[in-house]
Amino acid sequence: MRLNKYIAECGVASRRGADKLITEGKVKVNNKTVTTLGTEINEYNDTVMVDERKIALVRRDIYIVLNKPKGCVTTVKDDKGRKTVMDYISVKDKRLFPIGRLDYDTEGLVILTNDGDLAYKLTHPSNEIPKTYVAKVEGTLAEADIAKLRNGVPLDGVMTHRSKVKILGEEEGITRVEITIYEGKNRQVRRMFEYIGANVIFLKRTKIGDLKLGGLGRGMSRYLTDKEIDILKRL
Ligand code: URA
Repeated sequence: MRLNKYIAECGVASRRGADKLITEGKVKVNNKTVTTLGTEINEYNDTVMVDERKIALVRRDIYIVLNKPKGCVTTVKDDKGRKTVMDYISVKDKRLFPIGRLDYDTEGLVILTNDGDLAYKLTHPSNEIPKTYVAKVEGTLAEADIAKLRNGVPLDGVMTHRSKVKILGEEEGITRVEITIYEGKNRQVRRMFEYIGANVIFLKRTKIGDLKLGGLGRGMSRYLTDKEIDILKRL
């Protein structure tokens, strides 16, 4: 965030007033005086002082998207000492938590936030938020099995809702499938494939609603844009 915007959002001055404070040498970022207009800061990690007083945002929700690698758990802490998604986030804010869960061996899109309302909205079953995955499975999928995935399969004695299934390609005995589900049962995608006798060797979440992972590298994270936050809140 621009330093002048940050100062304004802390309620210290208008943006123009903030520019004046900056050029007058009254603003320090991480204990260093900053006089350059247009300076960018990390509003979550940097310490900003005006006239030797630390300033802070009144309240600001944090929204981060992480491309979770496999081999970590989607929790804040793990009793067994395994890596967690928090190990991949540089923002150190005690209120931050991941929304929903990906398995230890699943990779892809995880949202981390301190906004409990959004977390509730995205995880409540009645909201049927679409979540899209790319799976690699061994062998070829028969049309009849694809139809089963689409129409619902029994898990824990209850039929899964309809899902969208698209075959992306098949190479060297491995089929790539895109599947969109509208629920979030434990290990749902893996168990749906298990039901039709297909072995999942790779699973990645690529989308939640219209929020896409895009080109974010494995283990990398970024803040959501205001537009993306608005879209998620409207889901
Ligand atoms: N379905 C699964 O099987 N695993 C996940 O991590 C998410 C959905």
